[in-house]
Amino acid sequence: MCGIVGYIGSKDAFPILIKGLQRLEYRGYDSAGVALITEASNLAVYKTRGKVSDLESFTQHKDVSGSIGIAHTRWATHGEPNDVNAHPHYSQSESLALIHNGIIENYAVLKEDLMSRGYTFKSNTDTEVLVQLIEYVKVSNNVDLFTAVQLALTQVVGAYAIAVLERGHPDCIIAARKSSPLVVGIGDDEYFLGSDASPIIEYTNRVIYIDDDEVVRLKRDSEPRICNLNNVEKSHEIKELEMSLSQLEKGGFPHFMIKEIFEQPNTVRECMRGRINVERNRVALSGIIDHKERFLNAKRIIIVACGTSWHAGLIGEYLLEEFARIPVEVEYASEFRYRNPVLCPDDIVIAISQSGETADTLAAAELAKRQGAFVYGICNVVGSSIPRMTHTGSYTHAGPEIGVASTKAFTAQVTVLTLMALTIAEEKGEMSKDVFEQYVQELALIPDKMEQTLSVAGYIEDFSSIFTYAKNFIYLGRGYSYPVALEGALKLKEISYIHAEGYPAAEMKHGPIALIDREMPTVVIAPKKGMYDKVVSNIQEIKARKGRVVAIVTEGDTVIRDLADYYIEIPDTEDCFSPLLSALPLQLMAYYIAVVKGCNVDQPRNLAKSVTVE
Ligand code: G6P
Repeated sequence: MCGIVGYIGSKDAFPILIKGLQRLEYRGYDSAGVALITEASNLAVYKTRGKVSDLESFTQHKDVSGSIGIAHTRWATHGEPNDVNAHPHYSQSESLALIHNGIIENYAVLKEDLMSRGYTFKSNTDTEVLVQLIEYVKVSNNVDLFTAVQLALTQVVGAYAIAVLERGHPDCIIAARKSSPLVVGIGDDEYFLGSDASPIIEYTNRVIYIDDDEVVRLKRDSEPRICNLNNVEKSHEIKELEMSLSQLEKGGFPHFMIKEIFEQPNTVRECMRGRINVERNRVALSGIIDHKERFLNAKRIIIVACGTSWHAGLIGEYLLEEFARIPVEVEYASEFRYRNPVLCPDDIVIAISQSGETADTLAAAELAKRQGAFVYGICNVVGSSIPRMTHTGSYTHAGPEIGVASTKAFTAQVTVLTLMALTIAEEKGEMSKDVFEQYVQELALIPDKMEQTLSVAGYIEDFSSIFTYAKNFIYLGRGYSYPVALEGALKLKEISYIHAEGYPAAEMKHGPIALIDREMPTVVIAPKKGMYDKVVSNIQEIKARKGRVVAIVTEGDTVIRDLADYYIEIPDTEDCFSPLLSALPLQLMAYYIAVVKGCNVDQPRNLAKSVTVE
């Protein structure tokens, strides 16, 4: 949510900043801007409503010289997306320019105070308050920018990652973080700044992750100086990134989303690598093995997450209860964190998050940790905030996910939860040897079966265009297919803007059936090994009311084939692994419908990939 990029070195900053913004655009895309200290020693700010490409057009005949700059792509929180509210923001005297990701919660009080001191404001943003505050603190205390940022931030309540430039100081960027991610890249005599490593990886794989309440000074010819708000120096390990540049490119696909859908057989393979041994019928997730006693003694598991990760959590509930016989609750992180939950020392809290930065999930995990629970993270982005604060966890190893609608991260999360449930089941002796071995063998086949599932993409593309007329969709499933129904509906509404609801199939009779008519498509997830007969009855009920049915069925199914208007086959598998297959046609359907409707699938309106504000 909002992307920050910065550069200081000997190269031209502008092209590096623009490329960086393009890589970060998935975080927010309603406006973009850049601040540079130009060769003529101006502190130039250029910003505009719209995408990074609009910023490029806007700056075409402007002076974009200079080897130091900061840039921002915005997802609006305070103030509508327009030119004035776009970042960077100048201070009153225009001697400072600042970019910000996050929310300053006490901005109204600070603004009133600054206005009483003669400060005037051009925008409706909380960010402008911050830059004015820093200037006021700097001038009134007669301190340098580093100290002014430290002092100003002690007055600020909220979340931020910021970067500031100062007129007359072409050799220095000051940045700071609290609850919003910030990474420094270390090149040869140059530094980079990013909300994540994606704008940096092209130039260096050496990074420092800035922690909460830290301020960093990036200066040519000297080491980064990092202090907390009380001016205590902090030392930081330089980490090596494993990400590659090609992972950030579209690789010949028209959109990141479709590339990521097709990557899933490989991402699930990567996720299982070293964790499953087919020859020896073994599954071992080190996060569990290293804390075996915790899991053997756990009285309850609480899963906290948001969005698609929450849907993966629901599948985790079914898996962990069935395999490991531990009671599981799945909570929206945003509800959990504010409802004074009861936590016991034998509780395990699992925080699931692709980005590892979602504000609500992070806060829920922190709350659980403070209250003494053992906290386990399932995250994709290495080095992000959640894995850094949890007791232990497992990475999903899905590689960078750029499409805003999550696809490969979801199946990787489900894979980790499956491995987790199997590992605990074996350690606890909850599963017979035969069943365990049968499951291990079958799980290992899933990536190949995903490949087979994706081979029907052309057929899904052909029939999907028929549904662009629809205003509403219902998705139905039972058991393991119920969370898949929720996820299928979420995918469709996120990217095609068609209203869609997921329901447990049996609940249809308690309301949604009233909506069924010729116009209303229903997607039914009906693998053979689920509660098949009951789902067939649901389909008959829909057809009796002239509804149109798209069914996801196990290959060779003839009963539903004759009932449904359209059917998509997935390979046969265990019921518990079916979400890893049945989710794929639903992702494809949402994608193709959105493409035919002309929607921007990678950057759907009003959404952002990484929701680092509440
Ligand atoms: C946003 C994204 C969703 C994602 C959710 C949770 O809403 O658009 O795709 O599922 O955040 O994100 P996380 O990074 O915590 O999994």
